[in-house]
Amino acid sequence: MPPRPSSSGSCCDATPGEGALVGAPTDCESDGRVASTPVSGGTGQPGSPTPAPGQGRPRGLYTGVEASDVWYQTPRGQAVLAMELDALRPLVDRFPAPRIEIGVGTGRFAQALDCGYGLDPSEEALALAGRRGITGICGVGEALPLASARFGAVLLTFTLCFLDDPHSALAEAARTLVDGGGVVVGFLPTGGPWAELYAERGRQGHPVFRHARFHSVTDVQDLLTGAGFDVVASRSTLRQPPGLDRYTVETAQDGVDPDAGYVVLSAVAPPRG
Ligand SMILES: C[S@@+](CC[C@H](N)C(=O)[O-])C[C@H]1O[C@@H](n2cnc3c(N)ncnc32)[C@H](O)[C@@H]1O
Repeated sequence: MPPRPSSSGSCCDATPGEGALVGAPTDCESDGRVASTPVSGGTGQPGSPTPAPGQGRPRGLYTGVEASDVWYQTPRGQAVLAMELDALRPLVDRFPAPRIEIGVGTGRFAQALDCGYGLDPSEEALALAGRRGITGICGVGEALPLASARFGAVLLTFTLCFLDDPHSALAEAARTLVDGGGVVVGFLPTGGPWAELYAERGRQGHPVFRHARFHSVTDVQDLLTGAGFDVVASRSTLRQPPGLDRYTVETAQDGVDPDAGYVVLSAVAPPRG
């Protein structure tokens, strides 16, 4: 069964627009790659007695995603994007098409990494990803509305920390992968300067980062192995701290660098029984 594409309007069970709009659009000027504003809302049907995973916590449904997308067009954003793509690309390219990004946002990474499909609970994000040629699927990573054994690669970048249940999301990713397929996870590891900055902003009540739960490299390795994956490769980049006036594009290195701000792990899906 092919993935369900997003149609305009109301494919999401989620209800963008519920809840108070909070946000700090000017964050896009201060290393705020997540400059968009979340709105609260659940993925359960209105009135459903069964709460969706993590219901009661804002779902990371973002309005103003266009604003965060703009940051990647600034000179600093372009440099950071180049570094992150350099870390991701060789690991994504090891896995066959079709590829899907979970938490696709505006589709910038999906487009650059030849992921033809993108899933997100935000219809606004999916609409923007659609302009980049990504086939959008509305839903959450914890309960993928996708057939099993469908994809060669599942990408998550800057999304794991916003998931209510990363373990379920990775188990779902494993379910949708074909034999020999794999998952690629890009994240800001705790202990690195970028995660620490954003975590501190979260502690100060930042409307987006207060919902982020950053992970260590070990956490992500454990999540992957716990979902049955075999971690096969890693890459690191972004040794420069946030807040610089400009960034020099670094070449990503294989392996985990404890000083890196951005780490990518790739893992092969468990064989199908
Ligand atoms: C920080 S943004 C990253 C977007 C994109 N990966 C990028 O790096 O530009 C996190 C994305 O995860 C999405 N998201 C939040 N909760 C999610 C969930 N439970 N399942 C899938 N995506 C989710 C948000 O709507 C948002 O688009």
